[in-house]
Amino acid sequence: MAVPDDSVHQWDTILTLDFGSQYTHLITRRLRELNVFSEMLPCTQKLADLKWKPKGIILSGGPYSVYEEGAPHVDPAFFELGVPILGICYGLQEIAYRLGKDNVVAGTAREYGHADLTAKRLDGEGHVNRLFAGLEDHVKVWMSHGDKLVKLPEGFHTIATTQNSEYAGIAHETKPIYGIQFHPEVTHTPDGTKLLKNFAVDICGAKQNWTMAKFVDQEIARIRKLVGDDHVLGAVSGGVDSTVAAKLMKEAIGDRFHAVLVNNGCMRLNECEQVHETLTKHLGINLTVVDASKEFLDGLKGVTDPEQKRKFIGGKFIDVFEAQVEKIEAAVEHSGGKVKWFLQGTLYPDVIESLSFKGPSATIKTHHNVGGLPKRMTEGQGLKLIEPLRELFKDEVRQLGREFGIHPDLVNRHPFPGPGLSIRVLGEVTPERIEIARKADHIFISMIREAGLYDKIAQAYAALDPTKAVGVMGDKRVHAEMVILRAVETTDFMTATAFNFPHEFITRVATRIINEVHGVSRVLYDVSSKPPATIEME
Ligand code: XMP
Repeated sequence: MAVPDDSVHQWDTILTLDFGSQYTHLITRRLRELNVFSEMLPCTQKLADLKWKPKGIILSGGPYSVYEEGAPHVDPAFFELGVPILGICYGLQEIAYRLGKDNVVAGTAREYGHADLTAKRLDGEGHVNRLFAGLEDHVKVWMSHGDKLVKLPEGFHTIATTQNSEYAGIAHETKPIYGIQFHPEVTHTPDGTKLLKNFAVDICGAKQNWTMAKFVDQEIARIRKLVGDDHVLGAVSGGVDSTVAAKLMKEAIGDRFHAVLVNNGCMRLNECEQVHETLTKHLGINLTVVDASKEFLDGLKGVTDPEQKRKFIGGKFIDVFEAQVEKIEAAVEHSGGKVKWFLQGTLYPDVIESLSFKGPSATIKTHHNVGGLPKRMTEGQGLKLIEPLRELFKDEVRQLGREFGIHPDLVNRHPFPGPGLSIRVLGEVTPERIEIARKADHIFISMIREAGLYDKIAQAYAALDPTKAVGVMGDKRVHAEMVILRAVETTDFMTATAFNFPHEFITRVATRIINEVHGVSRVLYDVSSKPPATIEME
């Protein structure tokens, strides 16, 4: 057995092996909230391939039945490592199944939702059960399982029961191996975080030393070592991920990081100027703004198909970016440097997704990067990828942004798609129609901010319908644009519901848009949910 090298991680790490539960990432989250670093890897991970030694291991839940053919199983070597192990739901069943094929069977009824758990304070030997230390004897927990444990595996005793599960919690009599049928990682288990703390801190002995400041120090040191004297390029959009990633690069290598902002003519009101101001004046980042708006808008003439718009914008973006890269490379080479790296703002959920043993899902991934930019930069130009945010969740990136002193308006900004207003101007994109959408959007968003609603909404914008509608203005008949307002509530952007504005608010927005934006005759509000609708209209 290879001995994992624990010098790779500077802090104690709990390894979470993912069996495919939709909640697995929450285990990582909860532990990090406790300042314990946790890394999630697919359940197919072999111990021999792990380059560091975890302080403890959590086996997650999963949608399978342990006894099914093809069900995933943990590398048995992890049980020989001698570190504490906690199995959650499927993880519990996996622990039991390894020790007896008839320990787990399909339950007669699925147990889904709240259950009242009774914890056993002492085991048969009179030892205090450490997993439930500090919790009440009776706690509410959340269950979601069909299979159940019907026998206690050899060497284990029961540490918790529910009305339906005699073995809702089990522990090995001599080894630090625990299993629980419920999910401590979901907020529906109110004491779940305490239990995870008991496991990670008290049982595994992990130090609660993971902080954002330490993360930054380590990441900066890592970037410096990785990059050496080379130069790094990165596209920025003004969004929180690319801005925080850029700031981190600036802290690490100063002006050897070159940020490029491409104005594609489809940005929001004053957006380019604001991004320029923030990145250069406030954050001191070495930024080049390329105004390619005419090229983009000329190329969009006559294009009405949404996919064609996306393809054109993506392709043109790469052309403009590459031309800029050549200029930067020439300037850098002139002074004896070399551009060898390309910055990408990959976040932890993307890493998890691509590491999942189920394989990357076909969800919203295609949107994530501007038209395949990283692929062409790394394959075409032979640049290596650098991803300083790959260990962070979105709200951790926001926290980092706040710690860097980035303005809260930018840190909490709603997402904005790469193709910008072009996919919100339905039908043909003309400079005039973009301008109408831009002004209407500005009014809508400003009014949302003034009403204190911005942070309650996940994403809001104004779009233009492809057809015009008749109206009367000042006794004159007009045939003018229809503005569609959209605002949604969502946490993951995979499903969403329309935000419920007071009727009076929408009326005020409509009145202002029609009065102030020339060329608009009507304002509509989109009440559809995703699915079946999407958040963007094209
Ligand atoms: P949909 O419209 O698929 O959007 O419900 C989900 C999220 O993805 C964003 N989105 C994009 N982002 N390029 C991007 O960078 C795109 O082409 C793109 N299309 C959609 C959308 O704004 C929402 O946040």
